[in-house]
Amino acid sequence: MKIDFTLNGEQREIDVTPMSRLLDVLRCDFELTGSKEGCGEGECGACTVFVDGKAVNSCLIPVAQMQGREVRTVESLASNEMLSDVQQALIKFGGTQCGICTPGIAMMASAALEAEPNASRARMRELMAGNLCRCTGYQLIIDAVISAAEARRRHG
Ligand code: FES
Ligand code: FES
Repeated sequence: MKIDFTLNGEQREIDVTPMSRLLDVLRCDFELTGSKEGCGEGECGACTVFVDGKAVNSCLIPVAQMQGREVRTVESLASNEMLSDVQQALIKFGGTQCGICTPGIAMMASAALEAEPNASRARMRELMAGNLCRCTGYQLIIDAVISAAEARRRHG
């Protein structure tokens, strides 16, 4: 089945088994390996991508549903080879260790900051609750996201 969709700002077409998981198509067919597979069951958020601007678990979505949609992966967060503010903050604060959760965390944090730029620390924890991390204990991740939010406010 041929599927047309926008991927990281470019119109793409692929001939693929319709029930292939979006995560596999992104990683294997488009070689966008930033999105990770943690649980494969919609529980961990490591595979988070944006579909039409909404954060979703790409391990749960058949690629056939992407016809005509707009998909963005973690590879789209950096621009001109410069990491986004959220990505830079995650590094600076030690919010990334083994790195498996990090792409999903960066995507969800970006979505959360767009949706609720003034979210409290407690609210940010809620917004990020679907993204699991076995390494950092979350404190450093939330420190990083709150710092990125404060920097955005300072710089308008
Ligand atoms: S790999 Fe998709 S939610 Fe865990
Ligand atoms: S940094 Fe290892 S799972 Fe989050």
